[in-house]
Amino acid sequence: MTKKAKLTIAKDYKLAVVDKRIFGSFVEHLGRCVYDGIFQPGNPLSDENGFRTDVIEMVKELSVPVIRYPGGNFVSSFRWEDSVGPREQRPSRIELAWRSMESNQFGLQEFHQWCSLVNSEVMMAVNLGTRGMEEACNLLEYCNHPGGSKYGDLRIAHGRKNPYDIKLWCLGNEMDGPWQFGHKTMNEYGRLAEETAKAMKCIDPSVELVSCGSSYLNIPTYPKWESTTLECDYDFVDYVSMHQYYGNQSKDTLDFLAKSDDMDQFIKAVVSTCDYVKAKKRGKKDIHISFDEWNVWYHSNASDNEEMKNKPWQSAPALLEDHYTFEDSLLVGLCLITLLKHADRVKIACLAQLVNVIAPVMTEQGGGPAWKQSIFYPFFYTSKYGRGTVLHPVLHSPVHDSSGHENVTDIDCVAVWNEELEEISIFVVNRTLSEQVELSVDLRDFEGYALTEHLVMEHDDLTARNSAQEQKICPLVTNRSKVRDGSLESLISRASWNLIRLKKGRRV
Ligand code: AHR
Repeated sequence: MTKKAKLTIAKDYKLAVVDKRIFGSFVEHLGRCVYDGIFQPGNPLSDENGFRTDVIEMVKELSVPVIRYPGGNFVSSFRWEDSVGPREQRPSRIELAWRSMESNQFGLQEFHQWCSLVNSEVMMAVNLGTRGMEEACNLLEYCNHPGGSKYGDLRIAHGRKNPYDIKLWCLGNEMDGPWQFGHKTMNEYGRLAEETAKAMKCIDPSVELVSCGSSYLNIPTYPKWESTTLECDYDFVDYVSMHQYYGNQSKDTLDFLAKSDDMDQFIKAVVSTCDYVKAKKRGKKDIHISFDEWNVWYHSNASDNEEMKNKPWQSAPALLEDHYTFEDSLLVGLCLITLLKHADRVKIACLAQLVNVIAPVMTEQGGGPAWKQSIFYPFFYTSKYGRGTVLHPVLHSPVHDSSGHENVTDIDCVAVWNEELEEISIFVVNRTLSEQVELSVDLRDFEGYALTEHLVMEHDDLTARNSAQEQKICPLVTNRSKVRDGSLESLISRASWNLIRLKKGRRV
């Protein structure tokens, strides 16, 4: 017998308007992300600035409103002054985080220019590892001060009259991690972040600041790290960061696809910690979440460790080049559903990363054209159609257990209502491996809404991958949905990602 699930949505069940910045991404000076990825002078596919035009087109398709830069671990030993001004005067440096050579031929001004071509805002990280509050303040002054001061004038001398006016700033990266250069204890970081944030808000009160949260759920200092550091910097910061990567190391797909429940629990716990600090401080404002690194990452780990240990210092070595499978795209789709289900508190999220390094967009070594990984598609469609108001998903689904999780719903889903366009997008993933589910969605509150399309992404082989030659994994239109008597009835095939779109007055 086919399994059944029921979703109830209603206009009064509004969770929150989606902050478009949850469809953000991340560009780090790491491997072939910048050099070879977005910047490749001399390639016929590049423009007069050396920017890869094919990559620009794919990034534009993804509609990424904000991009975190320049790291990641890279930022913790980065000297921003090296990356601005005349290119011929910029030094090459050894780069500690990824044990690479950094030429600085692509820097802050190039990234800002590139972001405007892909319609993104810059989310800038400051180095609170090997450097401190003074350098962070100088960088902010360089970027945002109109002029008449040392660093504002330096920017003008570098040919940029108007301030860059960067609004979103990360106070370091993963400062809790012993691998980080300039790693801090929670008390050291809390005080440094507090003082740096205080000074940065004095320089430009319009900036929004992200305090570093834990690097991953299982790091021993979590969640004391969040409560201790936020108790220091609560008055001056707006967000706390979350980072988490997922993998199927044990080749247990049922359990892998349950890992978005871990993301859900992690978000709930960090939100609670923020609220605990707010209560303790008798505070008025909520600290929101910037989930500024998330993705599947495990295919490349072992080879990269060897690469970094044994090779001489190289420019743009191929690092963290995960080649994503179909099942990875299901988990990415599930994580996006989870982020949307927390739209009331998650205001920023960055798929880590964007090009070549654990990325949806790849370029071939040697300069071949860009191509789309399997994970490109759930991100593309969720970013395109997941804007509007998230409706509280009241879902009744059969459940199953996996090796590491209990009571995992067979399907997970969320509905986003675009009031202006009178459209509803329902994102659904069936995370069972063998059973289709009949989903019925009560539409009585949405009279006159009719089906626009049902897209499905499925594949017999969970380990199938896309490549430069072949796009095996991409969504197709299906006829498995119909609207009848105030109800949407959809067949959700085993191990599949689905987008069901409805629009008022439209019939197909
Ligand atoms: O995204 C790759 C790395 O993962 C980042 O540099 C770091 O912040 C995280 O540990």
